[in-house]
Amino acid sequence: MTNPKPIRKAVFPVAGLGTRFLPATKAIPKELLPIVDKPLIQYAVDEAREAGIEQMIFVTGRGKTAIVEHFDIAYELETTMGERGKDMSVLDSSRFTPGDIITVRQQVPMGLGHAIWCARAIVGDEPFAILLPDEMMWGEPGCMKQMVDAYAETGGNLVSVLEVPREDVSSYGVIDPGAENGALTEVKGLVEKPPVDEAPSNKIVSGRYILQPEVMRILEDQEKGAGGEIQLTDAMAKMIGQQPFHAVTFEGRRFDCGSKLGFVEATLAIALEREDMGGDVREMAHRILGD
Ligand code: UTP
Repeated sequence: MTNPKPIRKAVFPVAGLGTRFLPATKAIPKELLPIVDKPLIQYAVDEAREAGIEQMIFVTGRGKTAIVEHFDIAYELETTMGERGKDMSVLDSSRFTPGDIITVRQQVPMGLGHAIWCARAIVGDEPFAILLPDEMMWGEPGCMKQMVDAYAETGGNLVSVLEVPREDVSSYGVIDPGAENGALTEVKGLVEKPPVDEAPSNKIVSGRYILQPEVMRILEDQEKGAGGEIQLTDAMAKMIGQQPFHAVTFEGRRFDCGSKLGFVEATLAIALEREDMGGDVREMAHRILGD
């Protein structure tokens, strides 16, 4: 396929309850928890922008308004910082062209598939990206850029995948892999949270998607699946065979920041890599570990 329609819109589902992070997430959305000094949602939005995506669609719910405010201009902050001669470049990446931050509501968190369906009117008849902000993808270029580049060749639908130890597959969506060509793998099937002995591979879907708008029509009639939720994986599985469907093996690291361990790992890994603090963090870690 040549010249598929460009990806201009990204959907960020942020209406979940974040129960694994209670009590931190009682009043603060999980997506605003910072890794060092940047909230999770900002890493995902930066990744989408790097991939050339212009419009960011947040699927929010009650108590999530602060996520949208994060992308507003903070007049008091800017005025005071300006008067005091402080460097305001730290605020640059959270500024947006008016109209490019769009929110829709998911009144009840009925699952990822349902959250995506809530964005149908804004997505319209265009292919679109999905980024789950609690999965942090760390690489250069970013994961979505790697996917958009692959999409320019394949068109159709794409998911990002990575390989995990077999015994871990039952917590994830898993692909049934077909022909492989470099980082690209044909997807022959998809299952959500399979038992280990029924999993078709150890390649798990990892929080980044490029989908054709037809998925919205499938989601409209989608029954509840694993965990009693409307699953995106089940809807995507129905598109296989109707449209091209590929997986891109992400070249980079993924941190599952929806879990406490993954969150701590991301914080440590990124702090260690930062030029402004990496050396100090390394020393501090040695001190704590007593070696
Ligand atoms: P998760 O299942 O990881 O998030 O969903 P959660 O439900 O908020 O977290 P726990 O399990 O209770 O700790 C992945 C992403 O999908 C969004 C979440 O906000 C998260 O970014 N989501 C999930 C929705 O927007 N709506 C839903 O109904 C479910």
